[in-house]
Amino acid sequence: MNGRDVPVDAEGGRSLLSVLRDDLNLTGSKYGCGEGRCGACTVLLDGAPTRSCQVAVGSVGHRKILTIESLEHDGQLHPLQQAFLNHDAFQCGLPGQKPIALPHPNPLLKGEGFCNRQI
Ligand code: FES
Repeated sequence: MNGRDVPVDAEGGRSLLSVLRDDLNLTGSKYGCGEGRCGACTVLLDGAPTRSCQVAVGSVGHRKILTIESLEHDGQLHPLQQAFLNHDAFQCGLPGQKPIALPHPNPLLKGEGFCNRQI
């Protein structure tokens, strides 16, 4: 989990999102639709963007998980995280929930890591 071994004692059928938020206090991944559609809960699972609301925690095993919290280093937010704070952005940060398609190599910062619901 974000570069550390994190033991988890949770019922295997619970969603990864639930365990991240409720057991590990990693609240950067959000509950949006709960149906795998909005992307608010996206994490990287072995490097692949994954909707954590759709993953049973029992299926994760020792796979590598990166959450949005992994972008912070030495107590410093990633510039994008800081920009959200500076501009009081929330959710995907754009009015009308338009998709974000950032040209960034980290999938957590690409469109699939944020709201990608088309309106
Ligand atoms: S809450 Fe997981 S995709 Fe919407």
